[in-house]
Amino acid sequence: MKLIIPWSAQSVQCPQIVRGAGTTLWDSDGTPYFDLCSQLMAVNLGHGDLRIAEAMAAQASILSYVNPAYSTPVREILAEKLAEIAPHELNRVLLTTSGADAIENAIKLARLATGRHKVVTKYRSYHGATAAAMSASGDPRRLSQTGFETPGIVRVEDPYCYRCPWGQTLGNCEYQCVSHLERVIAFEGPETIAAIILEGESGTSGCIKYPPDYWLRVRAIASRYGIVLISDEVMSGFRCGDWFAVSRHGVVPDMIVMAKGLTSGYIPMGGILAKESLISPRFDSKSLPVGLTYAAHPVGCAAAVAAISIYQDLDLIHRPREWETWLTRRLVDRLDSIPCVGDIRLTGFLGVIELVIPGTRLPLVEWNSADVSWTNRISSLLWAAGLMPNVRWNYVFFAPPLIATQAELDRAIDQLGSVLDLVSNEINDSISENN
Ligand SMILES: Cc1ncc(COP(=O)(O)O)c(C=O)c1O
Repeated sequence: MKLIIPWSAQSVQCPQIVRGAGTTLWDSDGTPYFDLCSQLMAVNLGHGDLRIAEAMAAQASILSYVNPAYSTPVREILAEKLAEIAPHELNRVLLTTSGADAIENAIKLARLATGRHKVVTKYRSYHGATAAAMSASGDPRRLSQTGFETPGIVRVEDPYCYRCPWGQTLGNCEYQCVSHLERVIAFEGPETIAAIILEGESGTSGCIKYPPDYWLRVRAIASRYGIVLISDEVMSGFRCGDWFAVSRHGVVPDMIVMAKGLTSGYIPMGGILAKESLISPRFDSKSLPVGLTYAAHPVGCAAAVAAISIYQDLDLIHRPREWETWLTRRLVDRLDSIPCVGDIRLTGFLGVIELVIPGTRLPLVEWNSADVSWTNRISSLLWAAGLMPNVRWNYVFFAPPLIATQAELDRAIDQLGSVLDLVSNEINDSISENN
């Protein structure tokens, strides 16, 4: 039996990874790699943490599975833990199995609660690979679904200040990104819009930083029209300097969607935190049509309780915020003068280095370009330098585990710098050859 490789040409040879400890993973040849992006921005607490592994093992031996509709001690303990970390207005939780199915259920709940069907999302966004979550994404990954998308998705342009779609400059602009959103809502009919979904902080679509007040302004628009505001914190939760990145914008959404860092990636688990009014009184005496066999899995709940306790005990949740200035300065000092580096964007421990053709602002590789030879070249150079990377088109992501030490981060940034120095030289050589 041959494994099907997700999001990959099937002829690609992937390395075999055999072990992980802390911020390091080893392949089958024994070569160590620094986990530059916590795998898929999930393993926030690092690999091989016995506190999580043992909590899972203990739960599996007491009660390994039970119908998600039943109460169990570990489900109740997780609900209490989540009450400690969630905005207090969001006092209902639906536990799921991943980020994508949490998004599916969030869209379903918003549609049921409002009786409306449209969902507004951004072009540069990713919300998961199942039907509605993929359709809700703007990212080109959804294009593989063209012709069989979930209906009712409306997309808007991003507040992408480095490449402002309206040609404006931050600090000197009139927030056309917000007036654009308002216009789209007016054209679509606010009474038809169930939800607006934004990533708490943008992730694999480019870590596009929201301008100050953007989230607040969207909150005001959603409230004005009775639209459910959903913060997708699957990637930005548990790694941007607060439990949920949206909190750094001073906003309480109507729903928060989470996964990844919830269990630090130790076992699949997702969830939705929702305002009471989305559930009650509507479903007090009527069945709520949501549920998955493995939802609220007891072993997942045990992993989440252990992970949240570690974030709390080591105060790791605030570390990304405390280190953000240092880390940004360190990245800028080492990388900014490299000719192929266009922009460096970081929120907590979620960041990107955007690459350009030297001397221009043109992307080194266009968004959704089929020619990804530079992307592949950079990826293989990073592997060779001992960094396990996540590179998409011209985006090199930087999202290490929160347990990384400053010395480890220093070393990784230097290694990244050496690779990008080399890439810059290679780009210049290739430009000279072609002239
Ligand atoms: C912002 C965001 N939402 C949703 C998802 C989907 O999560 P999952 O892959 O667990 O289904 C992802 C995955 O990367 C994500 O980054």
